[in-house]
Parts: sequence; C-alpha cells; structure tokens
Amino acid sequence: KNSAHEKWKAAHTFAASYYHHLLLNTVEGEQALAYLHERGIDEETIKKFQIGWSLPGWDNLTSLLKQRDYNLSDMEACGLVVRQEQNERYFDRFRGRIMFPIMDEKGQVIAFSGRILNSDADEAKYLNSPESELFQKNDVLYNLHNARMSIRLKKQVILAEGFLDVIAFTRSGIDHVVGTMGTALTQNHITRLKRLSTNFVFCFDGDKAGFEATKKAFAATEAKQVQRTAIVLPDQKDPDDFVRTNGKDALTKIVEENGLSEMAFTMLYFRKGLNFQNDTDVLRYTENVLEALAKFSSPIEQSYYTKQLADEVGIDQSVIE
Ligand code: GTP
Ligand code: MN
Ligand code: MN
Ligand code: MN
Ligand code: MN
Repeated sequence: KNSAHEKWKAAHTFAASYYHHLLLNTVEGEQALAYLHERGIDEETIKKFQIGWSLPGWDNLTSLLKQRDYNLSDMEACGLVVRQEQNERYFDRFRGRIMFPIMDEKGQVIAFSGRILNSDADEAKYLNSPESELFQKNDVLYNLHNARMSIRLKKQVILAEGFLDVIAFTRSGIDHVVGTMGTALTQNHITRLKRLSTNFVFCFDGDKAGFEATKKAFAATEAKQVQRTAIVLPDQKDPDDFVRTNGKDALTKIVEENGLSEMAFTMLYFRKGLNFQNDTDVLRYTENVLEALAKFSSPIEQSYYTKQLADEVGIDQSVIE
C-alpha cells in the first residue's frame, strides 16, 4: 500500500510540474496566464503556488503517464485520470482548467483543484480530485505547508475559504494563512492547526456563505482551548476582492484592527437583515443576543455586551439585566 501511495505522489508531482510548465511556457497556456495576470497574480506567485494549466484535450496527461509506465487504473484510483465506462478508455480528469496543486503538510502534491476560465459556463467553477487514501478534504488545509513556520512565528493562523483568497493574503505580505477550500472546518483541521498556534482568525468571504461558515467555525472551535476572532469584510467581498479594490495595506489593517470576538460577531450575525424601527425585530434580536450571552460569555463580557445591546435597541440596561 505504501509503495502505491509513493507512486500516486510521484504521479501528482509529475502532473503538477507538467501543468505548471504548460501555463508558464507554452502558447496553449497564454490565455490562462493572461487571466491570472488580470487577477493580479504575477509570475512569482504562480511559481510559489505552482499554479498550472491543463490542456482542453482528452488525454494529454493520460498519454504522458502511460509513456512513463504508470498503471492507468492506479492513476484512476488517485483521481488523475477517469475511465470511460463503455470502451474502458482512460482520459484526463482535468481539462482546460487553471490548476491549483494541493499539498500535504510536508509539501507533497496529493490532489488538484481546477478552475474554469469562464465562470459563466455550465460546469462547476472548481473541480477537485476525488477523495482517496491520499486526499481527504476534512484533513487537508490549502497552503499549510508554506504557512507552518509563519503561523508559529506570528503565533496566529488566519483561515480563509478559497485558493485565491489565500493567495491574496500572501501577496499582501501575510503568510500565516491557510484555506479550507470551501468546506467546513473539521476537528482534524483544528487539531493540525493547534499544534502550530492556538490563536485562530476566521476571514471567510463577506457574503452569506462566508457569514454562515464563520458562525460554524466558532461553533466547531467551542471549548477547544483556542482563541478565536472573525474578520467580516465589507460589501460581500472575499479577501481577494478586497485586496483588489482596497489594496494590500487595507487588508493588513483590517486583519490587525477589526477582529470581532465571538459575541460581537454573533450580534452582527443576528442583526443582519433586521430593522430596528420594527418592534418585532428589536425583540427578536434582544432575545437572541441574551440567549447567546447566557451561553458563552463571561460575566465581564455579559456586562459589556448588555450595555452595547441596550444602546443598540434603546432599552434600559437595567431592564435587560
Ligand atoms: P474565484 O471565483 O475564483 O475568486 O473563487 P472563490 O475562491 O472566490 O470561490 P467561492 O467563494 O465561490 O468559493 C470558495 C471556495 O469553495 C473555492 O476556493 C473552492 O475551494 C470551493 N468551491 C467553490 N466553487 C466550487 C465548486 O464548484 N466545486 C467545488 N468542489 N468547490 C468549490
Ligand atoms: Mn464564496
Ligand atoms: Mn470567494
Ligand atoms: Mn467568487
Ligand atoms: Mn473570489
């Protein structure tokens, strides 16, 4: 089994350098390269993350793997190729996509995620390698390998959702960041990160999905002996959007200055979409906040946030208490 895994990893390493070469050095990669440049991703970043391009043809990688004596049914098991049921032919899983290699904690490529160039297409925006013995989404964090040392030094880890969000942070000079790749934060993730730092900063997308992800991340880290804060980005932006409109320094600043405690985030969460001119909304909000305060706040926090609540809704603090 171990030697099978070594083959899988070798094939992934080979595929990553093949895709990377196609993006940087070939005419076929020019359109994808232009797309990345347009998104502010320069050559240095492309090299750092070994970003690549998969050709749109059916079996470019498959033929190369075959030439190199890789067993194709083995390559199917690790997700690099797919088998067509009818004629038992193998073809490339990733075709015509910008390729993000996903590495394990040691820096070994164990999977890929491929982004289509045109987001309006019918297909899924990102296509991932299937889960295998090598790649389990609930155990892998994007960029953990690169970020390890910075997380230790900074005594903090920033958690973002997307590949391009993680990349946006590093382009802004912030290296202690990992990506959950759009999945929920799991106990495996938390255990891995806790070995490096117990100070977690959630910086998910500023949209509804990111807001929900933040709420869940707070819940997943409840009573795990980690300190947590959340950054809520304005105007539904994700970190990548934010850097592109507001600049690198603005991202650094918001991360350093605007971390919300669990309670402050929860209040923001409950406030979303409510209208304080409306009595029902005010009462609903007040009850939600009080319930949350009773659930996870120290007496000092309770007093602090009760005052804030009183100011927000215009009810006397003594009544609320
Ligand atoms: P861009 O549109 O390229 O900026 O990507 P994004 O990272 O902003 O994407 P989005 O906020 O839509 O999703 C966040 C993360 O969820 C992505 O980075 C992916 O890891 C994952 N994700 C998004 N769309 C898909 C999808 O269609 N399939 C899968 N498997 N994962 C996805
Ligand atoms: Mn999103
Ligand atoms: Mn996003
Ligand atoms: Mn998006
Ligand atoms: Mn984005």
